[in-house]
Order: sequence, then structure tokens, then C-alpha cells
Amino acid sequence: MDKFIIDGGVPLRGTVTISGSKNAALPIMAATLLAPGVYRIKNVPRLRDVRTMAHLLRIIGAKVEFGDHALQIDTRHADFPEAPYELVKTMRASMYVLGPLLARWKRARVSLPGGCAWGPRPVDLHLRGMEKLGGRLELDRGYIVARARELTGAHIYLDVASVGATGNIMMAATLAEGTTIIENAAEEPEIVDLGHFLQQMGARIQGLGSKTIQIQGVTELHPADYTIIPDRIEAGTFLVAGLITGGTVTLTRCRPGHLQEVLAKLQEAGAELHVTEESISLKAAGEIRPTHVTTAVYPGYPTDMQAQWIALMSLARGSSVVTDTIYPDRFTHVPELQRLGADIILKNNSAFVRGVSQLKGAPVMSTDLRASASLVLAALAAAGRSEVLRVYHIDRGYERIEEKLQQLGARIQRVDDGKLY
Ligand code: EPZ
Repeated sequence: MDKFIIDGGVPLRGTVTISGSKNAALPIMAATLLAPGVYRIKNVPRLRDVRTMAHLLRIIGAKVEFGDHALQIDTRHADFPEAPYELVKTMRASMYVLGPLLARWKRARVSLPGGCAWGPRPVDLHLRGMEKLGGRLELDRGYIVARARELTGAHIYLDVASVGATGNIMMAATLAEGTTIIENAAEEPEIVDLGHFLQQMGARIQGLGSKTIQIQGVTELHPADYTIIPDRIEAGTFLVAGLITGGTVTLTRCRPGHLQEVLAKLQEAGAELHVTEESISLKAAGEIRPTHVTTAVYPGYPTDMQAQWIALMSLARGSSVVTDTIYPDRFTHVPELQRLGADIILKNNSAFVRGVSQLKGAPVMSTDLRASASLVLAALAAAGRSEVLRVYHIDRGYERIEEKLQQLGARIQRVDDGKLY
């Protein structure tokens, strides 16, 4: 099991290249099941979750080959429409194969996800969407067993603007007979990227990036090549790293337009920013100013940047409130930040953070992907040595994060802590 050893207190300086988006790559990989053929996907991040999705596609019968930040996926012989529990429990995004399997094979057997560390995460909107499109679903010993004679377009209203449900329903609807309208759809850039990929495959979709997406079903789709958008959460994480350490960092190959709210909050917190089409430069200019954040669906402040923001506010000159309206209990990073000296009180779905003048290094435990990122950020700013344990969590969503941080001057090493569990 790997851990990071971090000697904090070094202002980060330099340039880092942002990788492709995990949350765009995963649904796009699943979408290749919609049409038999060979697909070449570029700007694919090298992440544990991408390898997990590749493994799942192979179980279904696809061939997946990795290139340099590229994938070649051959779905001509995919023929086993199942997603087993041992995979789905490690990665909730495995759910993304449900729509494509049902659309192409008219049957699917997908394990229910195990839910993440911060509480149960239902998939009711995915299931109801499939039923609206004509799927007949039943739960059988922890598996969703879905069948359909054919899929027909439907008018679907999502109670919650779910990213996953929007993606799953959109994929299934591309091969449904007639028109599907998804109301209260997710507007996240990753769903827009999935939609663009589906359009390259011949799907007829309007309204991407708005709350109402319309899909005219077609009888068949065809393979397409594609380049994934940059990861806006990795970008936001590295910008916070620059500000929390009092440094000057430049991100290249990113899409500033995808993280406007995060940029606005960074400026409110005291960062000086210079933005071009594909780069963002941040300069810490003096103290970190306390800045309240409430997460919301896109284009609001992303929940996937909530943990990182609490780490930053731990060192602000004053008090701030960070509220998560998407996942009310996504705060497992708080007790670990407190071990580094952060002064935080949790109440319902808010963290009340009173900035301290200094954090002190200590051993801390990762619990999930973005919690791990917040611990790394705090350790980079803390005085002295920290150990961040179980970094396999962070490897799910950040490509070689320690190497990218080393490029910025961070004193961070990955070591195998010798433990097997
Ligand atoms: C996606 O998860 C992301 N994962 C998550 O990023 C992200 O936190 C989340 O969207 C919110 O932005 C991927 O894209 C692979 P949701 P997803 O369905 O699709 C409720 C990361 O760190 N809900 O938009 O699972 C749910 O409980 C990961 O990269 C239902 O009630 O999120 C939650 O409160 C973590 N019923 C809210 O919607 C459903 O059927 C948002 O969930 C589905 C969701």
C-alpha cells in the first residue's frame, strides 16, 4: 500500500500540464458499447478508474489497448452484457454501462453500486429513466436485471440534476425509437463532452449544456475517434495548491471556462489570476482571505472541489463556511484536517472553518478521492513532515500527482508502507 511523505512549507512554483477529464473519459468509454467498431480516444488520463472501466469493457467482451494517453477500444466482439459486483463496488461509474447495454443488447445485468465512503448514493434516477424508455427492471440479489423488447423515446424529468443519470439516459435514448427529452438535465462539461462524442457517433442530440436535452433516436450509431476535455477538478486542485502554499503556478492544456466559479472564489480568497484560452496562472498575493462556498450543480461551485476548499480556508485570516448541498455528509476529510491543526466545526452539511496561522505535519488517512486531495494540499502547506496513507484513493482521479507536484518544487515522495491492507 503506498503512502506519501510530504515535507510542507514550500511555496509551489512552475508549470504543470492538466490531464484529460476522468469524469468525461468514463462515460465516453462506456458509450463505445453502443456501436460495434474500433474507437481511438485521445487525451485519456492514466488513472485507476480508467483502468477499472477498461477491465469492465473487457469483461463485456471489448478489446481495450492503452497507448500514450490514448485508448483503442474494439467493441466488435462485445457480447456479455454484465457488470459484476466486484467491479461496480470499486467504482460507481460502472453504472454507465447500463444504458448502452440495454440499448444495444436489450438486456443487462449490472450490480448495484456499493455507495461511496460518504454515505449511500442512490441510483433510482438511472433505473426510473431506463424504465421510462421501456426497460423492464428487477432487482435480483444485488443486481439490476434489465430487459426491453425495444426502447422508445420518453419525456423524463430528473428530480435531481444527476450527472450519472443524465449520461446513462442520454446514451440509452440515442438508440430509442422516437424522441427523448430530459428535463432538469446535468449541465456539467463532462456530460456535454459525452454528448459531443455521441454526436460524432451519429447521435442526434440538442440542448447539451442546458437543463433540457433532446435526443432523436436513430437505428444505429457508428464508431468515432475523439479527444477528451481537460480535467477541471484536477485544474482547480492545482490552483488551490498554488494558493495554499503561497506560490506561483501555471496550468497548461486546461479549459478556464469549465471552472469559472472556482476561479471567482480563488480571486475572492486573494489569488491573482491570469487566464488565456488554454492556461491559467495563479499568484498568491499576500494572505488567504476567508471566503464562503456553497456547492451546487454546474455552473455552481463543484462538490468535487469542496474538500480542497476547506483545506485552503483552514489557513485563511478569518472564518468561513463551506456548505455541500450535493453530498451533505461529504466531510470525512475534516477529522484528518483537524489532526493537522485545522479548527473546523461540522454542523449538518456545513463546515465552519476558523483559519489558523499554521498547520503542523502529522500522519493522516485518506478516505476517498477528493478527501485525499485535500489532505495532500494541507500537508503541502503544513510545517514539518506529514504522511498521507492509502493514496490508492488519490490515484483514482489524479495522474501521477506526486510527480506533477515535484515539478512545482514540492517535497513529496511516494513510498510503499509495506502494509497489505
Ligand atoms: C458524478 O457522480 C461524478 N462522478 C462525481 O465525482 C461528482 O461528485 C458528482 O457527479 C456530482 O457532481 C463521475 O462523473 C464519474 P450525481 P454521480 O448522480 O453521477 C443524487 C469525483 O470525485 N442522486 O450527479 O454519481 C446523489 O445522491 C466523483 O470525481 C440520486 O438521488 O453524481 C447526489 O446527492 C465523486 N439518485 C446527487 O444526486 C440517482 O439516481 C448528485 O449525484 C443519482 C444521483
